[in-house]
Amino acid sequence: MCGIIGIISNTPVAERLITGLERLEYRGYDSAGIATVVNNEIERRRAPGKLQTLKNLLAEQPLPGMVGIGHTRWATHGAPNAENAHPHANEHVAVVHNGIIENYAEIKNELQTKGYTFSSETDTEVIVHLLTDYLLKGLTPLEAVTQTLSHLHGAFALAIVFAKHPNLMIATRCGSPLVLGVGEYDIMLGSDALALASWAQKLCYLEEGDVVSISKNNNGDFDYQIIDSEGRSVERPLRQSKITAEAASKGEYSHYMLKEIFEQPRAIGETLQSAVDFESKHIDCANFDINWQSLTRLTIIACGTSYYAGMVAKYWFEKYAKLHVDVDIASEFRYREPIFCEGGLTLFLSQSGETIDTLAALNMAKEQKQQTLAIVNVTDSSIARLSDNVLYTAAGPEIGVASTKAFTTQLTLLACLAIVAASKRGKITEEDHQRLTEELIMLPGKISKVLQQDQTFHKCALTISGARDALYLGRGTNYPIALEGALKLKEVSYIHAEGYPAGELKHGPIALIDSAVPVVVLAPHDAWFSKTLSNLQEVMARGGQVICFTDSKGEVELKKQISSSFHLQIIVLPTVPSFVAPILYSIPVQLLAYYVALQKGTDVDQPRNLAKSVTVE
Ligand code: AGP
Repeated sequence: MCGIIGIISNTPVAERLITGLERLEYRGYDSAGIATVVNNEIERRRAPGKLQTLKNLLAEQPLPGMVGIGHTRWATHGAPNAENAHPHANEHVAVVHNGIIENYAEIKNELQTKGYTFSSETDTEVIVHLLTDYLLKGLTPLEAVTQTLSHLHGAFALAIVFAKHPNLMIATRCGSPLVLGVGEYDIMLGSDALALASWAQKLCYLEEGDVVSISKNNNGDFDYQIIDSEGRSVERPLRQSKITAEAASKGEYSHYMLKEIFEQPRAIGETLQSAVDFESKHIDCANFDINWQSLTRLTIIACGTSYYAGMVAKYWFEKYAKLHVDVDIASEFRYREPIFCEGGLTLFLSQSGETIDTLAALNMAKEQKQQTLAIVNVTDSSIARLSDNVLYTAAGPEIGVASTKAFTTQLTLLACLAIVAASKRGKITEEDHQRLTEELIMLPGKISKVLQQDQTFHKCALTISGARDALYLGRGTNYPIALEGALKLKEVSYIHAEGYPAGELKHGPIALIDSAVPVVVLAPHDAWFSKTLSNLQEVMARGGQVICFTDSKGEVELKKQISSSFHLQIIVLPTVPSFVAPILYSIPVQLLAYYVALQKGTDVDQPRNLAKSVTVE
C-alpha cells in the first residue's frame, strides 16, 4: 500500500526516483509523484494513474535537484487524482507517506482553526502543516519531526525534505517498512530493498519508531543518524545487499506474473535447499524450541492466498503429524475472542511480512503468550521480526500483484514443517520421512513438465475468457487450490469465480451450472477421484463446460465414463503422489488465470484496485 523512496546524491536524482518507483509500483499504482529541493525551494511533479503518466510529465517538465523523494500511491483517503497524489508539500516541506494517519480529521480541524488551508483530501497533508507549524516556531527539522510524530496515530512510514535545509532528509518508520541504503555515490531510503537495488551496497532495516536523519555536507560526503523511539541515538546493523537489479526486471517475459510462474521450479528448489539435507533426505528446518511432542494445537493465521496455503497445511499436519490445526483469516481472528490454549503454537503466513491484519494477529498471539512462528518471503519484514521464530521461503522478489511463486514456496515449507512435526511427534517412521522428502525433491522437475505444456493452458483459456462467472472444484488438498484458482482468476481477469469443495456442489452452487458457466475441476487420480468424478458427471448432465486437470490414470477413467458428446477438456498433468499434488496443481490454475487475463487484455501485473502489500486495514 504505497511505496516511498528518497535519495540524497551529488548528481540529479529524478531519474533514479522514477526507477525506484517502478520497482515499488506493485505496492500501489493509483498515482505517483516526486519532489526535489532546488535553490531552497520545493519543486514537485505529480500525476494520476500509472507511473507512465508521471514519466510523460517529466519529459515535458524535467525536475532538477540532488535531494528528492518519490511516492507511488494506493489510495486510502481521497480519489486517485493529481491533487491527492504525493508528495504533499508547501513552501517549507514536502512529505511522502505510506500508511494511514488515523486521527488526521482531528488534527486537520485544529490546523484549520489556526488558519492552515488544505489542498487535498488526504490524511497525509496534516503532516505537512504540523511540521510547518513547528518549523515556524523555530524548531530544528529534527525537533519538528519529533513533535509532529507525537501527534500522529496509525501505521506509517514517512520521508520528508525541507526547503531551507536542502541537504537533509528525515524519515521514520512506525508500522510500515523502511530501509536505509548506503551506496558509493548516494544515500537513500525505500519501502523495500528492491527499490534501492544496484545503488545501495549496504542496507539497514529500521526498527519500529526509528527516526533517521540523512544528510550531505559541503564536501558532498554523506552521513546518517538514527534515533530510536526513546529518543536515543542508536547504531543499527548495516548488511551487504544481495538484491540485484535483474531481480526487479521482467527479463524475456511479457509480464512479471508469467516470469514468476516460470521461476517456480527454481524457487521451490531453493526453498527445499534451505530446509532439506538432500543426501540423507532428511528435513531439519525447524530447529527452534518447539516441543512438537507435547503440542496440542497449531493455529495458522494468514490472509488471501497465504490463507489458502494454510488450509492445505491443515490437511498435511492432521494426516501426518496427527495434530489439531485451526486455520484462521487474520482480519477475522484479530476481532474475535479466540480461545488460546496453553502451550499452543501459532503460525503466521505472509509473503510480504507486512500484512497489517496478520501483524495485528501476531501481536495478539504474543500478548497471549503463544509461541509464534512465521513463514515469510521478505527478509527482516515486520512479521519476521516480531515472530519468535521465522522460516524464509526462497521465492525471491515477487512483483506481480497476484501471488504465484510465493504461494508454492509457502506450500513447500509447510510440507517440510509437517514432515518435521510428524517425525518429532513419532507419527511417521524415518522411512516415511525420507519418502515424503523425496517426493518434495522430485517436485521441481515435475513442475517444469507442466510449464512445458504452457500453450495448452493458453488454448483452454478461451473457454473461460468470454464467461461472466466460473467455478473451481476440488477435494482434499485440492479444495484450497480450487479456492486459489478462483482467486487468481478474479484478481487478474475480473471474471467472477468461486472455489468449492466438489462435495458441496449439490448443497447450492449446482444451481449456477449452465452452458455459460465454465467449471474447472482439479482431479488427480487419488483417494477422492471417484467422488470428484461423480460431481463432474452432475455438472456435465446440466450442460456445464468442464476443464479437468488430472493425470494419465484420471484421463483413462474420464474417457471411459464420460460421454464424448459432453463439453469436457482434459488436461493431463504429470502423475505425482497425493502429498505434493496441491503444489503441482497450483501451476495450471495460475497459468489458466494468466492466459485468460491476457486474452481479456487486463493489466496482469497491476490489476485494478489491488496492491501487493496490504499495510492498511
Ligand atoms: C494473492 O494473489 C494476493 N496478492 C493476496 O491475496 C495476498 O496473498 C494477501 O494479501 C496476503 O498477503 P501476504 O502473503 O503478503 O500477507
